[in-house]
Amino acid sequence: MVRKAELARDRYYKMAKERGYRARSAYKLKDMESRFRLIKPGDTVIDLGAAPGGWTQVAKELAGDRGMVISVDLQRISGIEGVIAIESDITDHEATINAISSVLTHAADVVLSDAAPKLSGNRAYDHYRSFVLSNSALHIAKAFLKPGGNFVAKIFQSEYYNAFYNAVKAIFHDTRAYTPESSRKRSAEVFVIGRGFKSQNNKPLKDVKV
Ligand SMILES: C[S@@+](CC[C@H](N)C(=O)[O-])C[C@H]1O[C@@H](n2cnc3c(N)ncnc32)[C@H](O)[C@@H]1O
Repeated sequence: MVRKAELARDRYYKMAKERGYRARSAYKLKDMESRFRLIKPGDTVIDLGAAPGGWTQVAKELAGDRGMVISVDLQRISGIEGVIAIESDITDHEATINAISSVLTHAADVVLSDAAPKLSGNRAYDHYRSFVLSNSALHIAKAFLKPGGNFVAKIFQSEYYNAFYNAVKAIFHDTRAYTPESSRKRSAEVFVIGRGFKSQNNKPLKDVKV
């Protein structure tokens, strides 16, 4: 839990408020974009675990009027102009893929996931849930990404991290792990970035039961 006093001192929180971003996490995507050049004007972007919509706002700015952004979350995301919002559980792959397919008739250029579990206080369980969400994001990315497309997914550093990193590495030409400056110091989060999707010659991930 982040305390109110801590938030008031947080420069990314202040900047997000001043500049109209819904979440300070917008600065994590901006940081990754400036280093890794993930989204171009005209791109189609799928943003998973997107509420309240900070990343979606940044993705829409970068993709511009010719681009398309589809945002998915368990929670409702409302009122971001030009964005298609879908309520779906991304661990239900079939339902989420069907919901996205009903609004997207072409391949996506970029799939993002900042999805995170509600913390239970049980570290081992939270780490596992984070891994399940990251795996789901990769599964959905494989369904929609065009060859050469880009991928970003959050995962908590844990015993599952290497398996996830290697699964991304197997299907992208270039894979990096990155922790933005705006990630909170005590956070275990890391972002795995895959650039240049290798198309369908991928090893399927082992199914993970939730
Ligand atoms: C850190 S927040 C995302 C913040 C967002 N990137 C932004 O900039 O506003 C994590 C999100 O993951 C979502 N989430 C967690 N589990 C999910 C699931 N199974 N399916 C879809 N979204 C999920 C939560 O509802 C939450 O909105």
